Amino acid sequence: MPTSRLVIIAGNWKMHKTITEAVVFVQELLPLIRNTTAKVYLAVPFTCLRAVAAASGSAITVGAQNIHEDQMGAFTGEISARMVKDTGARFVILGHSERRRLFHESDGVINQKIHSAYREELQPLLCIGETHEERHKGESHAVLKRQLVAGLKDVTPQQAENLILAYEPVWAIGTKETATTAIIDEAHGACRQVLKELFGDPIANQIPILYGGSVTAENGKTLIDDAEIDGVLVGGASLSVKSFSQIVNYQSNSR
Ligand code: PGA
Repeated sequence: MPTSRLVIIAGNWKMHKTITEAVVFVQELLPLIRNTTAKVYLAVPFTCLRAVAAASGSAITVGAQNIHEDQMGAFTGEISARMVKDTGARFVILGHSERRRLFHESDGVINQKIHSAYREELQPLLCIGETHEERHKGESHAVLKRQLVAGLKDVTPQQAENLILAYEPVWAIGTKETATTAIIDEAHGACRQVLKELFGDPIANQIPILYGGSVTAENGKTLIDDAEIDGVLVGGASLSVKSFSQIVNYQSNSR
């Protein structure tokens, strides 16, 4: 049962919003989410990190959407975990399917990034998920297991206490094809089992597993109400104050 796990509502803005737009968003959002019992996370573009962290105070946990795996060096155009931490950010999304697919990030590189995040005490939000084809071939569980085992290689149980996982089936991201709660429950159960094998039951039971993929203000409540879903990772619907605040506020009157 997830009762001891806090519900997390996380937004992922991807490559959207200027600094001004981002600050206006936060100023409009804060008064609307005052009564939520959810933890609100917002992953914003690098350029907005400092301003959004400053505008959010303690109400929103602000994070980046990627980091480079090395601590520093001759990597033109890249941003390190230390630089992200320095802005006031506290977490980082790693392994998002867009990074895997468009920027060819392997499980090995994602694992290095996980360790880089832990070194700087940035909380990693690891995304995993199968493609449409993998689901059709009956490989979903094997894919999730591979991404978890390789992505979390050499992570200690103590570090895992500070991990957030997001199950994001690739076929559901930005497609309006939300996974059913039956599919999500099954996938989350499979992930939880792997986490138990890696870190033992007590720690695995504390790790929040979010769902992401076409979450909207319309389907958000059903998802958050599901006992196996510890929160949601929201892309498109996190860009509007109206839909994102609605999703955040489902928590105050659901479980
Ligand atoms: P979406 O994106 O909500 O727009 O489908 C989710 C994500 O990429 O995390």
